[in-house]
Amino acid sequence: MVMKVLGIETSCDETAAAVVDAERRILSDVVRSQLAEHAPFGGVVPEIAARAHVEMLDGIVRRALDDAGCAIRDIDAVAATGGPGLIGGVIVGVMTAKGIAAAAGKPFVAVNHLEGHALTARLTDGTAFPYLLLLVSGGHCQLLIVEGVGRYVRLGTTIDDAVGEAFDKTAKLLGLGFPGGPAVAAMAEGGDAARFDLPRPMKGRPGCDFSFSGLKTAVRHVVDALPDGAIPREAARDLCAGFQRAAAEAICDRTSHAIRIFRSRHPGGAALVVAGGVAANTVLRALLEQTAEREGLRLVAPPPLLCTDNGAMIAWAGLERFRLGLTDGADFAPRPRWPLDESAAPAPFAGVKA
Ligand code: KG4
Ligand code: ZN
Repeated sequence: MVMKVLGIETSCDETAAAVVDAERRILSDVVRSQLAEHAPFGGVVPEIAARAHVEMLDGIVRRALDDAGCAIRDIDAVAATGGPGLIGGVIVGVMTAKGIAAAAGKPFVAVNHLEGHALTARLTDGTAFPYLLLLVSGGHCQLLIVEGVGRYVRLGTTIDDAVGEAFDKTAKLLGLGFPGGPAVAAMAEGGDAARFDLPRPMKGRPGCDFSFSGLKTAVRHVVDALPDGAIPREAARDLCAGFQRAAAEAICDRTSHAIRIFRSRHPGGAALVVAGGVAANTVLRALLEQTAEREGLRLVAPPPLLCTDNGAMIAWAGLERFRLGLTDGADFAPRPRWPLDESAAPAPFAGVKA
């Protein structure tokens, strides 16, 4: 029998469960977004998220098992996101997974949410270690060398906002709704990215760190300079296109530095992997493709639905850990903060979730 793992994700505003097997098949993948619950508040409200996870999770796990055509006895291990994330939600997922594992006599695996994103390329493309990872999401913006399961070397991180946060704030400023990434991307269609002069933060500086607060401020200045009243659609379109291009160019500049460091440490390393919600952005993907090609690497970008939060990535990371004998006990405590590279210094400024 091929090994199968059930994975549960509840660290933010998606309640998700999935079953994957060791032959890299996604047997089921159920994602229930809480968008409607949070939209009136313009962002994720932790208490509302935790309550929605409690209400939805049992049904979603049942559907994931049904869709996969298996009973819990057919599963080899139960994995759940153990952090980092909104602690109320993480507790719901961990308690549920521990309960199912104990009742069914199966091992429990606590998965680092970021490792779920980081290993997705091995599920979708079978990418071999080592590879360079660009992790771009709502809470993170990092460049890491992935040497193996649980083995990460951080080359750079954001010194202020994560790039997803910058997308979300830009959308809010323009009244485009939440979550901002897809809204900004949609609004940018056909826009003139060169109309407004926006900075490419950190471009040309040594190292691999990111910064997005200057770009966010520049967007606000453009909006403030517009005549009072509703923002004209054309201005919003061009500003979204400009913001998206500036963010993507800044990311590619930092990534090209990281590629050189990666290649010097791992001359045989062949892949640049992009992961996390912002990896769904098509402009970023296209620019990264060029950057990777110029620097001699292959870009691996999972399909957009596996870039944003989902259960399959947690099931897969759980499977990778389980087959190495890395399981967790009933005493595992959820971790609101859980860096992939525990030896990396905290990011230089406060408020960074790296
Ligand atoms: O990985 P993810 O689903 O959740 C976190 O772990 O943070 O990432 C969510 C982030 C949000 O900031 C969202 O606006 C952004 O990813 N995002 C995008 C796109 N789709 C989602 N940003 C830019 N373009 C997109 N198409
Ligand atoms: Zn995520």
